This record gives sequence, structure tokens and C-alpha cells, in this order.
Amino acid sequence: MRTATGATSLFSRNLRKHYPIAVRGEGCWIVDAEGRRYLDASGQAAVVNIGHGVPEIGRAMAEQSGRIAFAHTTQFHSEQAEKLAARVLAIAPRNFRDDGRVYFTSGGSEATETAIKLARQYFLESGQPSRYRVLARRQSYHGSTLGAMSVSGNVARRAPYAPMIPEWGHVAPCFCYHCPFAKTYPECNLACADDLDMFLRANDSSTVAAFLFEPVVGATLGAVPAVDGYTARIAEICRKHGILLIADEVMTGMGRTGTPFASEHWGLEPDVILTGKGIASGYAPLGAVLVSPRLVEAFEKGTAAFMHGFTYQAHPVATAAGNAVFDYLEAHSLFERVTPTGQTLRKALAALESHAHVGQVRGLGLLQGVEFVKDEVTREPFPKEADIAEKIRQAALEKNVLVYPGQGCVTACAGTMCYWRLPSLSSRKNASSSPIPCNMR
Ligand SMILES: Cc1ncc(COP(=O)(O)O)c(C=O)c1O
Repeated sequence: MRTATGATSLFSRNLRKHYPIAVRGEGCWIVDAEGRRYLDASGQAAVVNIGHGVPEIGRAMAEQSGRIAFAHTTQFHSEQAEKLAARVLAIAPRNFRDDGRVYFTSGGSEATETAIKLARQYFLESGQPSRYRVLARRQSYHGSTLGAMSVSGNVARRAPYAPMIPEWGHVAPCFCYHCPFAKTYPECNLACADDLDMFLRANDSSTVAAFLFEPVVGATLGAVPAVDGYTARIAEICRKHGILLIADEVMTGMGRTGTPFASEHWGLEPDVILTGKGIASGYAPLGAVLVSPRLVEAFEKGTAAFMHGFTYQAHPVATAAGNAVFDYLEAHSLFERVTPTGQTLRKALAALESHAHVGQVRGLGLLQGVEFVKDEVTREPFPKEADIAEKIRQAALEKNVLVYPGQGCVTACAGTMCYWRLPSLSSRKNASSSPIPCNMR
């Protein structure tokens, strides 16, 4: 409850900021306590895939809650969790479909933590106890808990906690617009993928358990998809060194990029997939770790007991939300609609490209980003102090449009991008005036 002076009792994300109270959601719109309507142009943080305020989701959650809201996973499974696990596996890459399993969490960070520990224990079960390090890429984000931070390559988000997190190793991202090797695709011959091989050769690969990466980099780079050939080369390197491949699809999973999981764009079959966000479309905190059969088998032949757990894992009401969202996705053919709607969005955003400070419009399906540069010829980023992403966010907000800003896509601090689903700001005069839906509907 706010006090009479408008003060809050919440420990906010930023104690200097004032946060309006969101009271209602309707499709692409969020309405605050003052009656102001915001166009949610990014589904918040790429979460609300089916839109706000879909009544059947709340009904399904209430129904489950009325039957049984909680049963501890050391003693029970629930119908909702069983059903959702089977449905998620049925749309996963082929290698998960026969005898894969799903471990439900309460969000993406917990999914990353789970995957890190799963990879470690897999090698204990398989008689390779020296393997524990999980490598990842620079300019990546895998969550905010300490284990997830240790793999995240987002320098700004890591910095305050650097003394508390191990550095297991980070390799180059696949980011052609600012290629870390100053090369050009395809003549580069995928130097960024080979960076993983070089790192493994130079840094005792016998201690490495897994490589974790985002097939389309979301929060840190602003919707940067892997180039063709990259994921296949990465998979080959992982196989060669005997390490697991983990795809972080917390943002890209459950249809966001036009296939149920982005890995499928390249026929990739990772050992583990993480997902979250869209799986319950924000109606409940839910994440998931998809575990491929060969890992399941190693556990079955070994101790069979994963030394890990959360009180709220596989929560019946959260998984009921997941099932209701899944029903909605199927009933409205939303998986199929992402690619054509993404093309419409891309066409609209293309109008921005003629702006002197728009470096690139990029993305896959309905995960699209716009990178702003100081100089479009040299691709020089704006300095961090210019705070361009925040200024753009503010400018959009003045027009009641919510976007997802980001900084640090070029170096730790510089480089500005925003996830937009709308023709916006300076391009508005050229662009279509009809807004593109913020969600997959
Ligand atoms: C790729 C990726 N992994 C993990 C996470 C962490 O998820 P959560 O914020 O639900 O803990 C995020 C969140 O933005 C993400 O984008």
C-alpha cells in the first residue's frame, strides 16, 4: 500500500524512481492506477507472449488452486506438471522427444542454476569427476543468481559481484555487426565458433562440463541471431571435447522466434534447453529445463537422485498457467503466426534504417532489436554517459509506449539497443501508423 505521500514500502529496482501502479492488462495494453494506458511494445521483457488479461488463464489457475495448490515434489507429482512436461517435450527438438524429461522452476535464473548443477552431476554420474566448469560467451545474460551470474558475460551486471563469482571462461559471441575478430561472414569461416575450440585447447578442457549459449542473444546484444553454420560448428566442438551443449532459450523458447525453440532454426539438438518467460506468458512464475535422454539415462544408471531442488519447483498452479497458455497458443495458432507477424514488424522497423543513428535492425520472428550508433559508417557506439537507451525509453514513454532498452552491446558499457515492436520516434513520420501487436496474437 502506498503511503499518503506516495512513498512505497517496496525495495524497488531503483529507489530514486517512481513506479506507477499497474492495475489492469488488456492484450497489448497496460493500464495504471491513474488510468494511463501504455502500449506494451515488448511484452515487457519478452515475457507476455499471448497478451495481458486473457481470462481463461486466470480461470485455469483458480481451478487448480481450488483443487490443490501445492504438493511437495519430494512426495508428489501433479497432473498439471506431468501434462505440461509432455507437451513441452512434444514440441522440443527431436532428441528430447523419446524419454526426455522436464525440470520445472520458478523462472529463468533458477533454470540456469539447475542446468549448471545438472551438468556437474551428470559428469559425476558418468565417472568424470574432474568436469565442473560451464563455459559461456561474452555479452550474454543467463540470470541474476550467483551461479547464473558466473556464466553470464554481461560485464555491467557482473561487475558489482565480481569477487563473489567464479570465472570459468567466456568466449567470443557470434555478432557480425561488431565482429570481435573484425572479419566478415562468411569469409570469417566462423572464427567466433572456433574461439570455443581454441579456448578449450588452451584451458584444460578436461575440467569443462558444458558450454551454455543463447541461440539468439536477447538482453545483452538486442536480438542477435546466430549465423548459419554457427550452431552446427559449436555442436561439433562440444562433441569433440566431450562436453554438454546447453541452449539458453529463456527468452527465445515457446515460439518467440517463429519455431517452438530457436534451436530448430538450425536443426540444433542441444543436450539441455532452458526456457522461461513465454512458457506461462507472465501469468505465473515458471521456467523449465529440458533434459535429453542421454543425461536421464546417466542418472538412472547412477544415483538416480539429483542433489538439487526448490520448494516451488513444478508448482501445480504455475504449471496450470503453463497448460492454459499452451492451450491458447494452440487454439489461436500463435506458433504459426510468429513468422508472418515478425515479417510485418521487420518491414515497419526497416523505415528506421535510414536514420543517421540507427545502425542495424535485426532479430528473428518476434524478437527484433534496433541498435543505435553514434556513427553509422564506423559503427561507433554512443558512450555510456550519453544514456541514449534510457533517453529513447523515456521518449517512447512520453508517447505511452513501453520498450525494452539495453546498453553494453559493443563493450562493457557502450552500445545501445532497444527491443521494439513498433515504428517509433524519428521514423514515425515514415512508418505505418497502425501499431503492430506487442505479443504473438
Ligand atoms: C536468456 C536469458 N536467460 C536467463 C534469464 C533469467 O531469467 P529470469 O529473469 O526469469 O530469472 C533471462 C532474463 O532476461 C534471459 O533473457
